[in-house]
Amino acid sequence: MATRRRVLAAGIATGSAALTGASLTPLLSARAAEAADSPATGTTPLAIELFKVPMPLIPVARPVSTAGGVDTYEVTTRKVTKEIVPGVQTELFTYDGQFPGATIKARRNRPVRVVQRNGLDVPISRHLHGASVPQNSDGGPMDTIDPGGERVYFYPNKQSHASLWYHDHAHHQESENVYRGLQGSYLIRDSTEDALPLPKGKYDVLIQLRDADFDATGRLLYAMSDRNRNTILANGVPYPYFEVAARKYRLRFANTSNMRFFELSLADGGDMIQIGSDGGLLPSPNTTKSVYLSSGERADVVIDFSRYPVGTQLVLKNTAGRGPVEQVGQVMRFDVTHTADDPSSVPSVLRTLPPLPTPTGSRTVVMRMDEDGRPDPQAFLDEKLYDPARIDAGVRHGASEVWTVTNTNVKAAHNFHMHLVQFRVIERNGNAPGPAESGLKDTVVLQPGETVRLQATFDTYAGDFVYHCHMLDHSAMGMMATMRIR
Ligand code: C2O
Ligand code: CU
Repeated sequence: MATRRRVLAAGIATGSAALTGASLTPLLSARAAEAADSPATGTTPLAIELFKVPMPLIPVARPVSTAGGVDTYEVTTRKVTKEIVPGVQTELFTYDGQFPGATIKARRNRPVRVVQRNGLDVPISRHLHGASVPQNSDGGPMDTIDPGGERVYFYPNKQSHASLWYHDHAHHQESENVYRGLQGSYLIRDSTEDALPLPKGKYDVLIQLRDADFDATGRLLYAMSDRNRNTILANGVPYPYFEVAARKYRLRFANTSNMRFFELSLADGGDMIQIGSDGGLLPSPNTTKSVYLSSGERADVVIDFSRYPVGTQLVLKNTAGRGPVEQVGQVMRFDVTHTADDPSSVPSVLRTLPPLPTPTGSRTVVMRMDEDGRPDPQAFLDEKLYDPARIDAGVRHGASEVWTVTNTNVKAAHNFHMHLVQFRVIERNGNAPGPAESGLKDTVVLQPGETVRLQATFDTYAGDFVYHCHMLDHSAMGMMATMRIR
C-alpha cells in the first residue's frame, strides 16, 4: 500500500475514472515533467479499438551454437514494416525483424555470447539492463556499433535468477532507437527459482508494456518528450486480450516505455501477488491491489484466475501517467476461457537475500531537470550534463556504498538506474521501503521531491559504468554520469 499512497500523494487522479472509462478528464494534467515537454506533435492520432487483437507471446531466441557450454546468438538490427495496429503498416527498428526482440533464456553460470550486427543506418549499442557484465560487454553509451558493423558481447550470467531486458544505449540515439523497437527480454534462471512450485511453462508469461504515438497512417512518431504517446502496447500490439485458464499465472511485467509510468490493477479490484522485481524474486510474496512500474522496472506478479467463472473478461487498468483515460487507463484484457489443473502455489518464503554488508562509504546524487517550460530543457545529475570524458564517481572495487539519491524537481518525476549492480533500497523518504522494493533492484522511482537511499556492493567487475535516469528522454538530455570502479 505504500506505493499507492505515494502515487496518490503525488497528485494522480484516483482509479474511479479509469473504471468507467467514460471520462474525458486526463488521468494526469500537470506533472511528470510536463512543463519541460516539447509541444504535442499535433497530428491526428490513430483511432484504435480496445481488445480486438490477441496478445502475442514473445518468441524465445534460439542459439546458433551451444559449443563449449556457451550459448551463442547472432542478431542483426534492421528496419522492418509490420502490422502491429490492425489494418495499418508501421516501420520499426528491430532485432531480427521481431518486435519486441526475441527473449533470451539463460541459466546462471552458463555464459551467453551475442554476435550483434548493425543493419540500421544509425549507431547502436546493445545494453543488458540489470546484468553484471564486464565493461566491454556492457553496451555503454559511447561503445557503439556503426552501421554495417559487428560486435561480440559476452555475458557470464554469474548473478542469480532475474528478469532482465536488453535495449539500445547509443548516446543521443538510445531514446529514439528504443522507442522505435530496439528492446527485448533476457531471463536468467537458477536452481533457487526452479525449486519453487510457482506457475511454470505456458503459465509463466512475459508481458512487455510500453506506449507509442502513431499518426493516422500508422507511422510511429518520435519527438523528444512527446506528450502524445498515448497508445499502450502489450508485447508489441495495442490493448490486446489474452485468453487464460481459470488457474494461477505468473506474469512477468516489464515497463519498456521511454517515459511512461504504469500503476497496474485489476478492474474488479482483485488481488495480485507480487513475487518478484528487477533482480528476481522478492524474499516473500506481497499481496497487493496494484503494482507500480516506472520506465525500465519489472514486476513478477501471480494472478489467480480460478476465482473467476469461465467467461469472465477482466481488464488490466492503469492509473498512473498522463493522457486521456480512454487511451491510457486500460492496458489489456484477460479473458477467462477455460479451466485447467493447477498444481502451482506461491510459497510464503521465496528466497533468502544475503544480509547487507556494513557500508564502506556513502555519496549523494541530485537529480534535476529544467521544468520551467523553456523550449530546450536540459536534465542534470549533480547539476552536470553527461560528459563521457568525465569520471563522476570513483568507487573502490569491493566497496559497499550507500547512495542517497534526491529528486529536487517539483513537477518532474525521475528514476535512478545503475549499470552493473543490483542494489537494495534501504530507505524511501526516511521510511523503510515498501514490500515491492524489498528485493534486488536496478531501477528505482523518485517522484518529485523524493529521496531514496540505496546500498550497492561493487565486488564483481571493475571498469567504467554509467548511472542515469531511465526516462530515456531525460538521459538523452544529459541526466547520466559515469562511475569508475577499481
Ligand atoms: Cu536500461 Cu543504462 O539502461
Ligand atoms: Cu528523469
